[in-house]
Amino acid sequence: MITERVETGRPYNILIGRGIMETLGARLRAATHAQTLVIISDETVDALYGDNTAALLARAGYRVLRFSFPAGEHTKTMETVTAILEFLAENAVTRSDALVALGGGIAGDVAGFCAATYQRGMDFVQVPTTLLAAVDSSVGGKTGVNLPAGKNLAGAFWQPRLVLCDTALLDTLPATLYADGMAEVIKYAVLQDADMFRLLGEGTLGQEAMIARCVAIKAAYVRADERDRGERRKLNLGHTFGHAIERASGYSLSHGRAVAIGMVMAARAAQYLGIARRPCTNAIAAALAANGLPVQTNLAAPQLLSAMGRDKKRAHNRITLVLPVEIGACTLLEAGMEQLPDILAAALERG
Ligand SMILES: NC(=O)c1ccc[n+]([C@@H]2O[C@H](COP(=O)([O-])OP(=O)(O)OC[C@H]3O[C@@H](n4cnc5c(N)ncnc54)[C@H](O)[C@@H]3O)[C@@H](O)[C@H]2O)c1
Repeated sequence: MITERVETGRPYNILIGRGIMETLGARLRAATHAQTLVIISDETVDALYGDNTAALLARAGYRVLRFSFPAGEHTKTMETVTAILEFLAENAVTRSDALVALGGGIAGDVAGFCAATYQRGMDFVQVPTTLLAAVDSSVGGKTGVNLPAGKNLAGAFWQPRLVLCDTALLDTLPATLYADGMAEVIKYAVLQDADMFRLLGEGTLGQEAMIARCVAIKAAYVRADERDRGERRKLNLGHTFGHAIERASGYSLSHGRAVAIGMVMAARAAQYLGIARRPCTNAIAAALAANGLPVQTNLAAPQLLSAMGRDKKRAHNRITLVLPVEIGACTLLEAGMEQLPDILAAALERG
């Protein structure tokens, strides 16, 4: 098992290992004072892992409750949050109890937001079951839900007390969902870790070590900038273009696939702007394609431009782009909206 520590206002451990789920009860004893645990998951994950998780926590001496909701982005809403909060109140859950987010990024974001708001804040732990949740969403304390006006528009920063990643739970993930997570893994390598990029290419990096390296990179950014106002924004590599692609495609393309295309676009934009010290567009595209991810879009510049105009991270008519300087190093660039048409045209050019 590998342990990483996130040094935030309330520091916490991330445990990564195969078969460590059995230790969840004991680990929770050390991390919280909860007597009741409420497992929050979507129905797919609940069907796969709900019974076993509830049983092992009950064996550890906890009162265990379960709440599940239909899987999919359409249930990441205030309605689901309200239903969960009412469920907690009806079952006399107190602020000294804890929520267990068992699932992908959606269960984590929803459960975390409920934990941040129920009785003004209670403990929660993350048990990620997707690769994306393991390397990204379970770490860092961003929680929230979508509003009809856009994704993740309501939320809170609320750190978990523990993240326990049992890699055995990832075995049931369909290949396409695993690939979505690999887009984020490759993002970390491009951002910060040329050695991991090389090992990924050689296929010699074990799953636990791969997740741990990603989490360590994210933890360092979170420690330096818990509220996402400075350097942490580098974690958005591929996401500014990626979110525009997601939005312009009417969310028919998954987040991971959109980020993959967005990363290649960012690399091309870096070359166009003369920022790339060692151009890496082809290397990034090859790494993504090797993991079954797309590297280009048929969407046209005007569609993407209009989607970028609605980006929630846009401020005062400027948008922050994360651009690869070379594999393992990126830089932030504030671009004016008037520069975007040219940057986008270059970023969309086929190599
Ligand atoms: N909070 C953050 O920092 C952060 C970061 C990145 C993404 N996110 C959010 O995360 C969400 C995406 O996360 P996701 O891709 O994990 O989506 P998800 O939670 O919807 O999970 C994807 C699908 O996989 C299924 N699933 C989960 N675990 C499984 C398993 N072990 N076996 C089989 N099926 C399984 C789920 O039922 C679901 O249908 C988005 O809403 C995004 O906004 C949050």
